[in-house]
Amino acid sequence: MNLILLGPPGIGKGTQAEILSAKFSIPKISTGDMFREEIKRKTQLGQDASSYMQRGELVPDSIVMAIIRKRLSESDCRKGFVLDGFPRTLAQAEALEKITKIDLVLNLSASKKELIERMAGRLTCKGCGQIYHLKHSPPEKRGVCDSCRGELYQREDQKAEVLTKRIEVYEKQTKPLISYYRNKGILVDVDARGSSDKVTKNVEKALGAFMKAKTRRE
Ligand code: AP5
Repeated sequence: MNLILLGPPGIGKGTQAEILSAKFSIPKISTGDMFREEIKRKTQLGQDASSYMQRGELVPDSIVMAIIRKRLSESDCRKGFVLDGFPRTLAQAEALEKITKIDLVLNLSASKKELIERMAGRLTCKGCGQIYHLKHSPPEKRGVCDSCRGELYQREDQKAEVLTKRIEVYEKQTKPLISYYRNKGILVDVDARGSSDKVTKNVEKALGAFMKAKTRRE
């Protein structure tokens, strides 16, 4: 199954993508994680992406498409994937359509207050990328990842002024994708308010309804 998780920054796309990836044994593909990895490795691509990310702006489509095209051609994507943070512009969505078919888009929404609270408390593992939250899903040992014992850190783009910019960018450049995919009949809205477990249940419900409708059609 080829899935997209759509939604504003901090809504919990990465968190739910991890769960779906484990449930369906498909890779989670996060363009944000891929860029952060390139920055860590000090590659040219990382350097190119870094200044946009620090300002909370989108990395240019041409750079994004080059990295995603390569990733989707890898063999583990043959049985499906879950996209987290991609596509983010109409141009990216149209380019993606030429590469592969998308089965379902889950559109996550919650209040702006929740987004900011979630992003401000996020901790990410330097080693494996596992996501934690200071209050909602803290690690067993402070500052240490439960899975790989890696060091936990706060992302640079979690600073208050960058958060506001990222939300603005989402409203202007990414939100139009909701009607784009709704018009194609492949978008399902998911209530992402409340706890992570509650959101996971809503995601499962949306997937269940989609599968049932698909079986009926076939
Ligand atoms: P990216 O890394 O994709 O960030 P984002 O989409 O802005 O989203 P986040 O990762 O901040 O949040 P999330 O929705 O994944 O939430 P999470 O699960 O972490 O992009 C970063 C930058 O890279 C962009 O600004 C851009 O510059 C560039 N970029 C990336 N892709 C690009 C593209 N396609 N085109 C152009 N540029 C691109 O959860 C957040 C926190 O909340 C965590 O602490 C988590 O534990 C907690 N949490 C999750 N769910 C809940 C819940 N239900 N209740 C309470 N806490 C929760």
